[in-house]
Amino acid sequence: EKGGYDSFMEKEINDQPQAVGDTLLGRSDADGRLTLDELRVSPEELKSVNKIMVLACGTSAYAGQVAKYAIEHWCRLPVEVELSHEFRYRDPIVDANTLIVAISQSGETMDTLMAVRYAKEQGAKVLAICNTNGSTIPREADAVLYTHAGPEIAVASTKAFLAQITAAYLLGLYLAQIRGNKFQGEIKDILADLSKVPDKIQQVLDNSGQIKELAQLMSETGSVLFLGRHVGFPVAMEGALKLKELAYIHAEGFAAGELKHGPIALIEEGQPVFVVVPSPRGRDSLHAKVVSNIQEIRARGAKTIVIAEEGDDAVKAYAEHIFYVPETPPLLAPLLTTVPLQIFACELATAKGFDVDQPRNLAKSVTVE
Ligand code: F6R
Repeated sequence: EKGGYDSFMEKEINDQPQAVGDTLLGRSDADGRLTLDELRVSPEELKSVNKIMVLACGTSAYAGQVAKYAIEHWCRLPVEVELSHEFRYRDPIVDANTLIVAISQSGETMDTLMAVRYAKEQGAKVLAICNTNGSTIPREADAVLYTHAGPEIAVASTKAFLAQITAAYLLGLYLAQIRGNKFQGEIKDILADLSKVPDKIQQVLDNSGQIKELAQLMSETGSVLFLGRHVGFPVAMEGALKLKELAYIHAEGFAAGELKHGPIALIEEGQPVFVVVPSPRGRDSLHAKVVSNIQEIRARGAKTIVIAEEGDDAVKAYAEHIFYVPETPPLLAPLLTTVPLQIFACELATAKGFDVDQPRNLAKSVTVE
């Protein structure tokens, strides 16, 4: 049942090309029209939406943060992302024109379920992105978009995360289609780029020997920092969460731009820092800014471990280790850059002799508030 792998976690990391491929499957036609017929809310209802609010916890909330960048860019709709357990306790502003997107792998997370109920009481429409057929959150939601990652057994989420991001991209493209924000040709191009992602994830998996070796060498490390910017920011947060959960190592994710506002004080000789580097083809010189962050921490003795796009030579001089992922449009990059971080955490925890499928103190679905 572990498909020849030593753990479900390893299997599920390796299932990711299929999880993303299956989530895309059958959801658009040959002309690039999205056909989310299963959605159960009418295009008219979705046209009247003036704000999206994503509610989720943990890894699922990081998927929501990735989605925010894409949906705002494609649909010109404001997207807020909020932890479900914070939402209900702060008098949030939601009404009939708010679309709540509740993201939950299990569909049973009590914090998210209670937030969904509260939002419905306020008159908001709720759409669930969920991996578990017939679970409570999609049953109570007005609409559901299932992720087709297959059952996720390991407690820490991996393939469900990539499938959630994929489903959220489809939702964003669908909203852009019905609201007329994008030409059909552009939507078709993005879908074509998405359809190439599963093979690219496979390439990352096939080239994971080096990151595994590094993880084994670092099994005595006491603390690891993760930096990212734009869509790389939630990826950094997710990389840190995986390492905490699986290897019980202190890990923090930061927005790279925050470095000089405080976290750079943590940098001392030998401090390992992962940096998720934006594509050099992206907008607004973000690439150059992150490269200069790498220089700054390197000058202070950090051990810099860089995840960058193939062909990005500018980072080479400042990276102690560098892992390349295939080229893809910047907004889609999290589907690739997350994978080495998952592998790193899984491998390091295994090297420490921990049970990666059942980390201490954690449950697969958190059914209490
Ligand atoms: C992290 C992890 C948790 C879940 C969170 C939400 O690896 O698994 O952070 O992502 O508990 O769970 P769902 O998505 O089932 O609502």
